[in-house]
Amino acid sequence: MRNQIEKNIIYNECCLQTMSRMPNNFLDLTITSPPYDDLRTYNNHIRGIKSEFNGFSFQFEKIAKELYRVTKEGGVVIWIVSDATTSGNETGNSFRQALFFKECGFNLFDTMIYSKPPRGAVGNNTTYWQSFEYMFVLSKGRPKTINLITDRENKESRKGDNGTKRLQNGELLNVSRGGYGEFGRRTNIWEYNVGKGHSASDEYAYQHPAIFPEKLARDHIESWSNQGDLVYDPMIGSGTVAKMAIIENRNFIGSEINLDYCQIAEKRISIANLLKEIEEYAAEAI
Ligand SMILES: C[S@@+](CC[C@H](N)C(=O)[O-])C[C@H]1O[C@@H](n2cnc3c(N)ncnc32)[C@H](O)[C@@H]1O
Repeated sequence: MRNQIEKNIIYNECCLQTMSRMPNNFLDLTITSPPYDDLRTYNNHIRGIKSEFNGFSFQFEKIAKELYRVTKEGGVVIWIVSDATTSGNETGNSFRQALFFKECGFNLFDTMIYSKPPRGAVGNNTTYWQSFEYMFVLSKGRPKTINLITDRENKESRKGDNGTKRLQNGELLNVSRGGYGEFGRRTNIWEYNVGKGHSASDEYAYQHPAIFPEKLARDHIESWSNQGDLVYDPMIGSGTVAKMAIIENRNFIGSEINLDYCQIAEKRISIANLLKEIEEYAAEAI
């Protein structure tokens, strides 16, 4: 049994165990996609132990309370979820979870959308194609880091200018008009292509059944943390958050209950570390 928590490691255990070793106010940012609504079945395999734990029976309320305790003042949790539909009835668990986070003390700072190509209509083709997940941005107080990404092309970009305006009494008033840059801040709907060749830049990731895109993790890391900060994924799967944290010069911690997925994540971490070394070597050579 480990007593201390070290950075830049993925722990093969339930996230509640990992968090129990974290002090209060420890994490700058958490990004995670939990195993929601039995939409996928994951095997639980902890080194040497087969657990009873399966799918959605994860202890959401305990996890939410622990996340609040271990998040720093101003820290952020990105909770990425969707709902299952049974007989034309969506579970609504995503909303329940968001509201429970608020009960724990988090602010629901923003409800963002992760949009992706349609994956199949729910309920005998009687609904529109399902093509998004929620990304709840939860903050402990006001987020201490907000680096909004400004890559949305402004259709009407223009330089600012000065001019005059005639007042009712005939006098001329000098006025200056602000400009719009070529790029503005994004909307809170983020769209990504998913699947082979899109979600991840290495082959190992696709051995996990439910990865989110590397770019999505990277965009959140850039938005809500700074270099050297500590980023956690309590259900890290194939290690996407760890890989992107390394590339973005952040520290990471991961928890993953399934040993096979931990091993995939470790391979991806090695790739990220290698990429970093090459980048540093190239920078020194210039
Ligand atoms: C949706 S997947 C995450 C995928 C990840 N975002 C990626 O890009 O690879 C959810 C993961 O949570 C793991 N998991 C489920 N319950 C857990 C728990 N209590 N503690 C740690 N990991 C857990 C599952 O084994 C699964 O790999």
